[in-house]
Amino acid sequence: MLNLPRLERTWLWLGGITMAFFFIIVLSLAVMADIEPPSYGQTIDPTKVSQTPPFDHPGLHQTGPKAYEAYYVGQVFSWNPASITIPVGSAVTFYVTSSDVVHGFSVPTADVNAEVMPGWVSRVEHTFLKPGDYPIICNQYCGIGHSAMFAHIIVR
Ligand code: CUA
Repeated sequence: MLNLPRLERTWLWLGGITMAFFFIIVLSLAVMADIEPPSYGQTIDPTKVSQTPPFDHPGLHQTGPKAYEAYYVGQVFSWNPASITIPVGSAVTFYVTSSDVVHGFSVPTADVNAEVMPGWVSRVEHTFLKPGDYPIICNQYCGIGHSAMFAHIIVR
């Protein structure tokens, strides 16, 4: 054992126990509450996005009363679809992929943020409880037109 003063040993133990405690919390949330990063799971051939259903027809699909799935394709420098309209209270599951480079699918005024990697389908859910125009931006630098890459979700 290292020849450290008692107080220092105590603090080292406290730090170690705290780290172990947080690690256990993160691990149990990941396993028991099934919390995963948004890009978990589905893959897609990034060179064939425009021929691969449902991304050959990006857009909004109703799956139930106030329940939707929205399929988005990111490419330099736009999101497809450019605009969707949904009623207040709609629960939307977004499926987003890229046909070229890494983009960031982000709705800053809602709790929606997913990195979009070519070859992967990112999945993120949100329920829109307030009416308004929710802009979708790109938050991963993807080239000269990055700052012009946006779309809209209209909730009314
Ligand atoms: Cu797409 Cu930045």
